[in-house]
Amino acid sequence: MQFQNNKDKILIIDFGSQVTKLIARRVRELGVFSEIITPDQAQILKDFENIKGIILSGGPSTVTKKKHQSIPITIFDKKIPILGICYGLQLIAKLHGGKIKSSRNRREFGRASIFKKTKSLLTKNFFKTKKSVWMSHEDAVVKIPKDFKVTAFTKDSKFTILENKKKKIYGVQFHPEVTHTDNGKQIFKNFLFLICKFKKKWSVISQKKRLILEVKRTARNDKVICALSGGVDSSVVALLINKAIKKNLICIMVDTGLMRKNEFKYTYRTFKKKYKLNVKLINASKIFIKKLKNVSNPEKKRKIIGKLFIKIFEKESKKFRNVKFLAQGTLYPDIIESKSSTGSKTSKIKSHHNVGGLPKKMNLKLIEPLKEFFKDEVRILGKSLGLSKEICHRHPFPGPGLGIRVIGNVTPEKIKILQEADSIFIGELNKSNLYNKIWQAYAALLPIKTVGVMGDSRTYEYTCLLRAVTSEDGMTADYFSFPKDFLDKISNRIINNVKGINRVVYDISSKPPSTIELE
Ligand code: XMP
Repeated sequence: MQFQNNKDKILIIDFGSQVTKLIARRVRELGVFSEIITPDQAQILKDFENIKGIILSGGPSTVTKKKHQSIPITIFDKKIPILGICYGLQLIAKLHGGKIKSSRNRREFGRASIFKKTKSLLTKNFFKTKKSVWMSHEDAVVKIPKDFKVTAFTKDSKFTILENKKKKIYGVQFHPEVTHTDNGKQIFKNFLFLICKFKKKWSVISQKKRLILEVKRTARNDKVICALSGGVDSSVVALLINKAIKKNLICIMVDTGLMRKNEFKYTYRTFKKKYKLNVKLINASKIFIKKLKNVSNPEKKRKIIGKLFIKIFEKESKKFRNVKFLAQGTLYPDIIESKSSTGSKTSKIKSHHNVGGLPKKMNLKLIEPLKEFFKDEVRILGKSLGLSKEICHRHPFPGPGLGIRVIGNVTPEKIKILQEADSIFIGELNKSNLYNKIWQAYAALLPIKTVGVMGDSRTYEYTCLLRAVTSEDGMTADYFSFPKDFLDKISNRIINNVKGINRVVYDISSKPPSTIELE
């Protein structure tokens, strides 16, 4: 699928690298629209009108095998500048008559120092200081194609950057898109502005008018229904659609009783009173708790919550007449992930619950105004629509909510204890100006009780686990290093103020191998 927005863009052909999304983000951060397609889509691509540059991503495949992912050689005749990254570079070399070998002796993983060989537009201002770049390859070019020259090298690879200046074809063996590469952004800057000759102009905000117009044109006079959770995505969708069709938007908020402290009330009030949206509130907390009774298996809990949510939403939406559309906060990463270039489905680690599963049975057409955007772009859009800072910068929150943060068996008492602890943790993060430095933070309630002592009495209560991670997209994450004072303060405040907790632990695992949520 190509987006129909007729903008000049960079097309990224995804060969299955874990970090292709980062390429798209780097390009957009520089003010140029980018779109990812699969090699299969590239095979049948006919319209090159708005494509001003092409980037070939890295990937797990190898060009040394007869069967490997490729692109039509005719793409190189379109006079569109091309940049190959890792596998992309090897593919360029192979398609132009170079030789690539797979060898354990040539593999480079991690940081490598890179040295300039000759001047190049691609590396202008890149070599200002000593540089290290991020490598992740076993295959390497051993003979460069005719008409190509080498402009940079590392100790272990003679051909780290290649170019055919006349044809505007470039290739880098390392990954400029990852932050481990020093000044990697400069490579993209040079490719976009010096080689593809983009004039910086794309921004999320410049898209707002078009998005509103598109919703207007699609919905016409029909009603649109939307599940509003108060998270950034559904909030931005609701505000955007409200701008387009006002009274014809119906927002349904299902109170599962599994939200954070006061979150539901705050969201309802904000959208009803401040933004004057048509919001219908459904209090379903009792039924959620009932269905979760004595269930401690995480997958079962997720499925119960997901199914029940859909059932309630479906039932409520049927009460409105003439509803033709369902609005969803699908983001660009959801679209990219659903069309993996290798066609292989990554093994299911957790079954995610969100409103993505809604339309199948409901017979409603979808409106997904955010499907071109990354989360940070949605936040920018939200701000320009007047969405409060609090909602715009809210950390991601999983669909099953506290149902998967009370580990094991869920009871109303445990939910209440957790809400209190989480609210103290998040409150202190805000007070200490740490909230926005962290990608996601929360408290979880572990299903173990331990002994403690308070005053002269023995206690036997639950353990609260705190989790705070930095991340770019939730796919990988590092735990956040808090100053000791902060941890001391949090631990004291939670134990002294939350009845039911007598021990606080901080989770220092990263993803992988751990996940962000515990269940
Ligand atoms: P994990 O635990 O898989 O989480 O490392 C990655 C990100 O996904 C969020 N998450 C969910 N989001 N529905 C959602 O909408 C879900 O069922 C769900 N489960 C996890 C998690 O909070 C983190 O941001």
